[in-house]
Amino acid sequence: MNLIDYPKWPSLARESILNVPMDLRSVRLSIDGKVIDYGAEIDSVVITGMGGSGVVGDLLSDLCWFWDCRVPIIVSKNMRLPRRLSRPLVIAISYSGNTAETIMSANEALSRGYPVIGITTGGKLSAVLSGKGVPVVLIPKASAPRYGLPALLYPALIILERFGIASVTNELESGITGIENALKHVDDAVNLARQLVDSIPVVWVTESRRGVGIRFKNDLNENAKYYSVISVVPEGAHNDIAAVITKQGCLKHVAIMGPSDYEGLYEEVLIDVISSFGARPIIVKLEGKTPLETEIYGVTYLGIVTLALAELLGVEPVSTEPIDRLKNLLNERRVFQV
Ligand code: PA5
Repeated sequence: MNLIDYPKWPSLARESILNVPMDLRSVRLSIDGKVIDYGAEIDSVVITGMGGSGVVGDLLSDLCWFWDCRVPIIVSKNMRLPRRLSRPLVIAISYSGNTAETIMSANEALSRGYPVIGITTGGKLSAVLSGKGVPVVLIPKASAPRYGLPALLYPALIILERFGIASVTNELESGITGIENALKHVDDAVNLARQLVDSIPVVWVTESRRGVGIRFKNDLNENAKYYSVISVVPEGAHNDIAAVITKQGCLKHVAIMGPSDYEGLYEEVLIDVISSFGARPIIVKLEGKTPLETEIYGVTYLGIVTLALAELLGVEPVSTEPIDRLKNLLNERRVFQV
């Protein structure tokens, strides 16, 4: 089966961190009369980006359920930044560098006087930020944004380390082990994909693995061109679960469970309740000895499931024509001023 760029993920992760500037904390800029000091204390990290780039924020946010992150991570997937930020560091991630929502958010951050760091392969984001002296991490290319995930994630991890937000260095290699381990489970992934044919997957995931669930949904959408529903528990156990009574024939429940997730017992109860109504959930057990390894194992393994599903359905996985059409039309109609 064609794994596209997945076999390259370990090297993408390693190469991408080489370009993170060493002296990030000593950057000092003056933009529109405002001094932006990258050495100043911050009280949050905002990760802004869309789709395959924005998911990095979701994954980091998951990891902060396990790590002792010093400040909150705020995930922003919009063309504006949240109001009432006080002293954030903004990490603007766009694989192509041409996603208008992300460029607008980065510009807004600079105009509010926040330190910004870009992660991209180039494009307008790189040009706009570099033109103002803003640090940009240029990353290696992949076949499409989502296939470059480690190259988007690893620089962000290093940035968190450099700003003293989380201590990640010890786990970086384990993340790569997670990729390598998932690549050994291609047969299992194909088997899972087979069970998803002709269904609408209902993906149950715990709050601390929300990012893995979102990424799985996104990969189902973009690789296999498949709709799915994601339910994050505990919240989903107070609403989504009520629908299990109705026999909507095409639903296939998939429960994602991490090895040391503190919500594990809760999810077991949830699975028992769903099963008691006649559903037969597929249980996906994430593997890994560290939080990063488990998270990356999850996104790699489930990504491969979606490639296998695409193959079973005879769908071309890389192109995402509706997204391209949307971006072109937004551009044509001048929805964004970038
Ligand atoms: O995976 C994809 O192709 C998309 O989800 C893109 O990531 C999304 O459209 C945003 O583009 P970019 O990552 O180039 O900013």
